[in-house]
Amino acid sequence: MPRRTLIAGTGSYLPERVLTNRELESMVDTSDEWIQERTGIRERRMAAPHEVTSDLALAASRQALEAAGWGPEDITALIVATISPDMPMPATACLLQAKLGATRAAAFDISAACSGFIYGLQIADGFIRSGIHERVLVVGAEILSRVTDWQDRTTCVLFADGAGAAALRASGPEENERGIRSVSIRSDGNLWDLLYIPGGGTQAPQSERVVAERLQFIKMKGNETFRVAVRTLEMLVVETLRDNGMEAADLALLIPHQANIRIIQATAERLGLSMDKVMINLDLVGNTSGASIPIALDQAVRAGRVAPGDHVLLEAFGAGLTWGSALVTI
Ligand code: COA
Repeated sequence: MPRRTLIAGTGSYLPERVLTNRELESMVDTSDEWIQERTGIRERRMAAPHEVTSDLALAASRQALEAAGWGPEDITALIVATISPDMPMPATACLLQAKLGATRAAAFDISAACSGFIYGLQIADGFIRSGIHERVLVVGAEILSRVTDWQDRTTCVLFADGAGAAALRASGPEENERGIRSVSIRSDGNLWDLLYIPGGGTQAPQSERVVAERLQFIKMKGNETFRVAVRTLEMLVVETLRDNGMEAADLALLIPHQANIRIIQATAERLGLSMDKVMINLDLVGNTSGASIPIALDQAVRAGRVAPGDHVLLEAFGAGLTWGSALVTI
């Protein structure tokens, strides 16, 4: 049996400050009822003014290292999935590396929005199975509250802050039934304009115009994004199970990207999976993009909802457009 990539430890961090739907009612023309009914979100967390993305990543990473029994020097590759980096350059992974003391690691960011953690898993899986790297830390970290337009009710009720991390290593001779069974990632750049941040890059460099036209914030065609997400995710989860010779009944838990309860319900329904086999935290956490899946994974592990030997399906969909899934035996 060839070696697999095993999840040796997970961690997550949510900032202290809670922003409720009721508070949003005083900021934009919305209501707690509308937000709960259309999205499933009740509240979300906001980073404190002094916190930057690498701080959230640091807290999650420390937990994952502790769970894995690793020191920071054990990490040989450090990957951060984020669309809200501390700064355009250098990579948030390098800033995290310095804070963590992961002196031996090659550190870099990936930009695949809400699918970023799954993209990171595939990269880590390739590194580990090929023997290039032994120990990889994959982190998803976001402070979306700083790239959200607080005057736009169609987006500001959705996005939130947080970080999650997973420490990955090669399975040992006794452990080859555990680990990542498959990861698949896809994208369709033709649909880039369903969800994007227009300003701050080379197309519209930071300027007074960017600020005046609010181009530094997330723009989204919510309805179209919703429809493509449902269609794509339904296909993706069915394909992933089929490719692994499994059925939905074999799964201990589905851990979906936490974007919208209606998208998640549609995916579960397509699989014939009851909602008690689906990890949901978006009611309290909101959509944290690249951090969404690792936070949900860590919470599921710590709550005892998954145990070693359990099969878990991770799936995500986001800007790019990008999407991906992973079938993992914990
Ligand atoms: N509060 C109250 N009303 C709102 C609102 C809010 N926060 N946001 C939008 N509305 C209004 C719209 O203006 C629209 O009003 P109109 O009919 O008078 O024009 C109405 O609600 C319906 O808007 P629509 O966009 O069709 O709603 P929806 O049912 O599609 O729900 C989203 C909107 C954003 C919740 C939903 O489209 C969604 O979740 N899309 C996917 C987003 C996503 O997951 N993005 C991240 C991908 S990782």
